[in-house]
Amino acid sequence: MKKSMQSRSVLSEIMLPCQANPSGKVHGGEIMKMMDNCGGVAAMRHAKTNVVTVRVDEMVFHQPIMVGQLVICEAQLVFAGRTSMEVKVTVKVEDMMNELPTKVALTAFFTYVALDEEGKPCQVPGLLVETEEEKEAFENGRQRYLEHKKNRQKTEEPVRR
Ligand SMILES: CC(C)(COP(=O)(O)OP(=O)(O)OC[C@H]1O[C@@H](n2cnc3c(N)ncnc32)[C@H](O)[C@@H]1OP(=O)(O)O)[C@@H](O)C(=O)NCCC(=O)NCCS
Repeated sequence: MKKSMQSRSVLSEIMLPCQANPSGKVHGGEIMKMMDNCGGVAAMRHAKTNVVTVRVDEMVFHQPIMVGQLVICEAQLVFAGRTSMEVKVTVKVEDMMNELPTKVALTAFFTYVALDEEGKPCQVPGLLVETEEEKEAFENGRQRYLEHKKNRQKTEEPVRR
């Protein structure tokens, strides 16, 4: 069993004009890529294997991100199944030229699957949850996991290898 603090990951980057549209707002895809990188690091740290992204849930853009702002991605494991892990990624923005507090611009839940050397899903350590907040986040993650599993059994074709 491992704690989420052991795999927590943070990634920061200043937004440049090449990442934005002509009005200076950063493209959503730029931020989503950064979130996936940051979440992937947390999943790899937990599993100690290669991982692939299999799903993104509840991606919500709360406010625009502008050129020149510092984007800070924070990723924390909230749930671990047998071979899959759910990571909450929070994106904060900071105006470095003033003393205003950072704002949450975006949040989402990324699911990664751990793969062995042959590219097959492999078991990950359990997630040790201690605080009430961690327990609640784990239970919410477990509910999403069970719901997706149920829906897949109804609709999705299995992956053929
Ligand atoms: C991830 C992948 C290997 C899973 O393959 P699979 O045949 O479905 O494997 P399994 O049925 O054994 O499922 C493995 C785990 O993935 C989870 N999973 C599979 N499909 C999922 C989906 N659509 N949403 C959420 N979780 C999913 C399962 O719940 C299972 O988790 P568990 O072991 O914790 O219960 C396969 O779907 C894949 O290769 N997808 C493409 C991934 C990719 O290329 N991503 C982009 C590049 S990073």
